[in-house]
Amino acid sequence: MESFLIKGGLPLRGEVTISGSKNAALPIMAATLLTDEPCVIRGVPDLSDTQFMALILKSLGAEAKFENGTLSVRAKKIHGHADYELVRKMRGSICVAGPLLARLHKAEISLPGGCVIGARPINLHLKGFESLGAKIEIAGGYVRATAKKLTGCTAFLGGRAGSTVLGTANVMMAATLADGQTVIESAACEPEVVDLANFLNAMGANISGAGSPTITITGVAKLHGAEHQIIPDRIETATFAIAAAATNGEVTIKNCRPDHLRAVLDKQRAGSMTIRRGKKLAAVDVTTLPYSGFPTDAQAQMMSLLTLVPGISIITERIFESRFMHVSELARLGAEIEIEGPSAIVKGGRPLNGAPVMASDLRASAALVIAGLAAKGQTQVNRIYHLDRGYEKMDVKLRKLGAKIQRVEEK
Ligand code: EPZ
Repeated sequence: MESFLIKGGLPLRGEVTISGSKNAALPIMAATLLTDEPCVIRGVPDLSDTQFMALILKSLGAEAKFENGTLSVRAKKIHGHADYELVRKMRGSICVAGPLLARLHKAEISLPGGCVIGARPINLHLKGFESLGAKIEIAGGYVRATAKKLTGCTAFLGGRAGSTVLGTANVMMAATLADGQTVIESAACEPEVVDLANFLNAMGANISGAGSPTITITGVAKLHGAEHQIIPDRIETATFAIAAAATNGEVTIKNCRPDHLRAVLDKQRAGSMTIRRGKKLAAVDVTTLPYSGFPTDAQAQMMSLLTLVPGISIITERIFESRFMHVSELARLGAEIEIEGPSAIVKGGRPLNGAPVMASDLRASAALVIAGLAAKGQTQVNRIYHLDRGYEKMDVKLRKLGAKIQRVEEK
């Protein structure tokens, strides 16, 4: 297993170019199953998750070629069985269910397990499929959705933590080929849902309202091939912006959409932006919310920054039930953080000192890298395979910004 070896205390300076959004790419890659014609998706980040999704598409019978960020797919003849061995490795693969149900009227997907950040149920996905007329059976660790036909409906996708991003994606994709009109109420409003709707419309779907809590999909008989450019990754943007602030550096972030990050940056410029610490950083309270609230995927990274800011900051996680795995590892670097239910109370201001730490999930790994960059001395972040799932060449990008970071084999 690989680790990052970081010599901290150096300000990040220079330019970084953001990659395409992982969380837009995965459902858009699944959407190529909706047509037997060729699709070309550009700006797909080269990650273990996207490589894996390409493998899943091939396992379903599609031809898929992924080269230099461009994915060419032709799902000419496909079947509807997504194997346990594949799905268990990436729960995002659940988003092939909607396209398979729409195209084949049958989808058999291994139930995605939970992960360290929460139970990650799919009840809202299945509720949406049932509203469209599908029959759902669960047996042997598989969920099997079948339908004689799919009929437009009103599907309410609100759950205990707001809406569901991949649930909205799944139901929206299934509805594109249903008879009649479907209205998704309490839909997820994330930019990744909008990017998927744009791709589906380019394929000939008839979708309006994406980005709002009410999405209307008028079913069509068939979808054709299309080309698409994935939006920039707003969470990678937030990660580098926070890293710039944490190291008291000055970083110009290119190929980003600041308007997708209002809650994190409060800036509205297209294209690029420069992050530098303005006046003194102040302790803040942060609560993660569905879009356009503060994104849960930037919570851990923000916590690393707030450990450096004198004063008390309170971070409340409202989306997932256990997304504080990074707290104990940050404490190994000297951070003072107490967890009280859904909140973490950060007593910031003491400098961090380097130490070996363990990554537990994708965004916790990013938080530990940021803390290591800011800490005095050396930090070794172990198990960075978690990080490689969602960040394209993060060590290369950070070295270009002056960071002393090496990828090494974990001793
Ligand atoms: C997407 O996951 C993202 N992943 C996650 O990013 C992100 O954290 C999450 O949305 C929330 O923004 C991808 O897009 C591949 P949800 P998703 O369904 O769609 C509950 C990252 O770090 N829920 O919006 O799986 C669920 O338990 C990853 O890049 C139900 O109760 O998340 C959670 O508490 C991590 N029933 C909340 O809703 C359901 O049927 C939000 O989950 C579905 C979800």
